[in-house]
Amino acid sequence: MKRGRMAMLTSRPRGTNDILPGDVERWQYIEALAHELCRNWCYGELRTPVFEHTELFLRGVGDATDIVEKEMYTFQDKGGRSLTLRPEGTAPAARAYLENRLQAGPQPVKLYYIGPMFRHDRPQAGRFRQFHQFGAEIFGAAAPAADAEIITLAMEFYRSLDITGLELHLNSVGCPMCRQVLRERLRRYFEARMDGLCPHCRGRLERNPLRLLDCKEAGCREAGAGAPTPLDCLCDECRAHFAEVRRTLDIVGVSYVIDPRLVRGLDYYTRTAFEILAAGVGAQSAVGGGGRYDGLVRTVGGPGVPGVGVALGLERTLLLLAQQHPEVGGRRPPDAFLATAGNTWETATALLVTLRRSGVACDHDYTGRSLKAQMKHAGRLGARFVVIVGEDEAARGAATVRDMESGRQEEVALNGLAPYLRQRLAEKRPDFPGDPKMEVW
Ligand code: HAM
Repeated sequence: MKRGRMAMLTSRPRGTNDILPGDVERWQYIEALAHELCRNWCYGELRTPVFEHTELFLRGVGDATDIVEKEMYTFQDKGGRSLTLRPEGTAPAARAYLENRLQAGPQPVKLYYIGPMFRHDRPQAGRFRQFHQFGAEIFGAAAPAADAEIITLAMEFYRSLDITGLELHLNSVGCPMCRQVLRERLRRYFEARMDGLCPHCRGRLERNPLRLLDCKEAGCREAGAGAPTPLDCLCDECRAHFAEVRRTLDIVGVSYVIDPRLVRGLDYYTRTAFEILAAGVGAQSAVGGGGRYDGLVRTVGGPGVPGVGVALGLERTLLLLAQQHPEVGGRRPPDAFLATAGNTWETATALLVTLRRSGVACDHDYTGRSLKAQMKHAGRLGARFVVIVGEDEAARGAATVRDMESGRQEEVALNGLAPYLRQRLAEKRPDFPGDPKMEVW
């Protein structure tokens, strides 16, 4: 018991991750790309709470979905309200759209978000209980151009990361009328084949027969081999909408595979549904998914505002990035390490602030190490330069700069040290900002 308790203190909950320096740079890199992409595509960033009223997801995501039935982190707060850690970002975005009266402004409203989501799923490679999504949503646009834009935006994100080998699977699940037809046909079809179905599918045949189309159990796959698909049941408008989405994707050069059995795990989809699949992210091959949800805003209590969106899993994206571009990221070493010799503490302390303020990433010793030990420490940190402030140099208003790569040393006046280092760093590191805002010490 005691050991179990101690283990709880020193291990994180299952299915969660610590992201440490050295890894976090890759996160910062893809997040920066996502922000830049959305700025260019004119999406505004939305930040919603990580928990919402449980009811939002029951209604929005659908109470017959795996997410709501099995995967939500739901708890009662001290006021007795039922709250849920958000399992996804679309229902919260719809809630925020309504609550902040965004429908009163110019339409459509284009939003994006980056943040943690929570699902009590069985953890495995690429599947976590706390994971992160980059999502984008358009509210107030019914046209196929919006569906195509969302899909293109997602593919463009991967293009900017230079991630290849992705496959876009595309389908239309139709409008509620098409779905009514499909549901009936599926029920009839599978009722005649009940014996082959897994217990889960037998249970959901009445409530959610669409999900039987993408059950991974061998028996269900076999039983469903000749089942009607959403594409077989599309009404004329849904068919035309789907054709227009495909035509637009063709124009912008986004390739896709029509996947008639693709049905998504969330109930709000109408018409367009898609998934972006990749090999090499474990059993979970979907790096992203999305679609149109024309009924969602009404379901969560608003007017009939159409919408379409996508969410991309960042952990899975990072797995692909690490596989395809291992050179990206990594911890950035200090530009300079400030070493003191003798009683130069005051000079060094002031110099440190000056250097840091002028954009030179500068570290120093906190523990009273000898000069030799400081040099060794600077080497372990990978510092490019060591600035040695010794008593004699300090008295002359200077410091010795050692290039850790070549071992060359040079005395530099303190009042010219920041520009000197910036110049030398710019020569070493092409990404070092040019035209520095230089302070004179
Ligand atoms: P979703 O398909 O449930 O859609 O999730 C989107 C992506 O999030 C998945 O393709 C996957 O990459 C990632 N993901 C989901 N669950 C996990 C997990 N347990 N561990 C790691 N990654 C995971 C949605 O969430 C919809 N809100 C997408 C959307 C936006 N539809 C319209 N707008």
